[in-house]
Amino acid sequence: MKLFLDTADFSEIQKAYLTGLIDGVTTNPTLGLKAGKTLYGIAGDILQACPTIESVSCEVVADTAAEMLDQAQTFLPLGEAVTIKVPCTIEGLKACRFLAEDGIKTNVTLVFSVAQAILAAKAGATYISPFVGRCNDNSFSGVELVRAIANTYATQRVSTQILAASLRDVHHVSRCFAYGADVCTLPPKVFWKMYEHVLTDQGLAQFENDWATANQPFK
Ligand code: G3P
Repeated sequence: MKLFLDTADFSEIQKAYLTGLIDGVTTNPTLGLKAGKTLYGIAGDILQACPTIESVSCEVVADTAAEMLDQAQTFLPLGEAVTIKVPCTIEGLKACRFLAEDGIKTNVTLVFSVAQAILAAKAGATYISPFVGRCNDNSFSGVELVRAIANTYATQRVSTQILAASLRDVHHVSRCFAYGADVCTLPPKVFWKMYEHVLTDQGLAQFENDWATANQPFK
């Protein structure tokens, strides 16, 4: 059960990494644009500052597998945690297969069906990224997609890991893990909401109050 952070915001990554609860980071061109940095620059910063991180997804964007493989070459020297993120297209799957054969970690992204997940597994993907929130945006259940992929992978003994992405709230995270996701990648605001509960706050207030009262005689 692994938690990745879905952001290219370096200060957010550093802050969350210090909790010791973050296993990896996923980036994409949109997140890079928001952060105002190239994915290469961001990946380099993360790998330098977060030495125990197991995976940093670096997305390639091109029409052909050959171009994707060329782009991958720029990221790979950054470190072993580099995970090449390819789109779930035929060219992306071809690139995935080549990279997998060389022992390079891959993440097949923009997955919206079990059929796509099957092809990605056949291509040797390390991770696949079903976009849960965007399924819901389009009137089908993202968490049910995660469940269906997990059932198929379990039946077929597939080692590709399900990396649930496009998660918009804490409930998505809980459901995805319950339904068989191996990894959830979270926007920072969702990560920081995971520990919050009103009953924890209430209980803590009571304990603090009672602690202060009980310790009065010893002051
Ligand atoms: O990991 C994919 C994610 O960044 C997309 O999220 O909310 O734009 O669908 P969203």
